[in-house]
Amino acid sequence: MKDEEKNAMSGSATLNSGGVSSAASQRRKTEMILAKDNSTAPVLEADNVTIRYGSNAAIKDFTLIMPERRITAIIGPSGCGKSTLLRSFNRMNDFIDSLNIDGKFKYRGHDLYAASVDPVEVRRRIGMVFQKPNPFPKSIAQNIAWGPLINGIASKGGSGGLRDVDDLIEKSLRQAGLWDEVKDRLGESGLALSGGQQQRLCIARALAMEPEVLLMDEPCSALDPVSTMRIEDLIFELKESYTIVIVTHNMQQAARASDYTAFLEDGHLIEFGETEQVFTRPEKKRTEDYVSGRFG
Ligand SMILES: Nc1ncnc2c1ncn2[C@@H]1O[C@H](COP(=O)(O)OP(=O)(O)OP(=O)(O)O)[C@@H](O)[C@H]1O
Ligand SMILES: [Mg+2]
Repeated sequence: MKDEEKNAMSGSATLNSGGVSSAASQRRKTEMILAKDNSTAPVLEADNVTIRYGSNAAIKDFTLIMPERRITAIIGPSGCGKSTLLRSFNRMNDFIDSLNIDGKFKYRGHDLYAASVDPVEVRRRIGMVFQKPNPFPKSIAQNIAWGPLINGIASKGGSGGLRDVDDLIEKSLRQAGLWDEVKDRLGESGLALSGGQQQRLCIARALAMEPEVLLMDEPCSALDPVSTMRIEDLIFELKESYTIVIVTHNMQQAARASDYTAFLEDGHLIEFGETEQVFTRPEKKRTEDYVSGRFG
């Protein structure tokens, strides 16, 4: 059996001993790991991607597949390229002029950067929640309603065959576990909520767009432990219906909350595997050092 097959059989995709594995072998390893998970399908893929800011590569020869209705954690030291990677999946990086992408980002097999693809539609299907809660300076209800109203998902009273905006506000706030806390103050400013509530409002705002994927970039790093646990519980519930990718510096969070973990260093994928394997039986010494807190 080849080394890469052995690695895959043990549940891990790692670099080969010579350094960076080829894109093709990285892909095979990842596919073998995910093949054990019969009830899921690939939703997002980075296929041999290199992302540069000017001449500086932030993501290098990178291949990763994120499966449906699973939580994939992305971990790695500060500056290793996690946010750059995440933002490329919903085309938030379109706004950075110096940024250049080689390779393919795919959503259900479709090239996310094909000329025919509308980035607004990409961001509707692939929602994003940021590190710092960023409610609009509008009411709680307007925070939820604005996106669906201007994107033709909802209307007042459900006219035109669209969703009723008030129903959508309630549904989204319920999904985000915030409804009971805010149902009597929907007209108050979103900025009047606590940090943890604001983050759940931002999650509700993302869910109101009826996405399939939620990208979360350190969604709990500005929150206290109780709010963090609430968001983690929520993420776990959302997994029933959504594909979730979460960047986190919190190793306990990655170990607790995710199904799969990708460890990055200096723009490279060092190891990908089932979370339990990556945290308890990492293939690479670098992964072991990182998840046990010896660096980063
Ligand atoms: N807009 C930008 N222009 C130029 N370089 C950038 C830009 N954004 C990020 N970089 C560089 O790309 C590399 C990766 O940055 P990125 O923000 O993706 O890392 P990260 O893993 O998310 O870090 P952190 O854990 O601190 O959030 C870094 O070297 C960073 O300086
Ligand atoms: Mg980041």
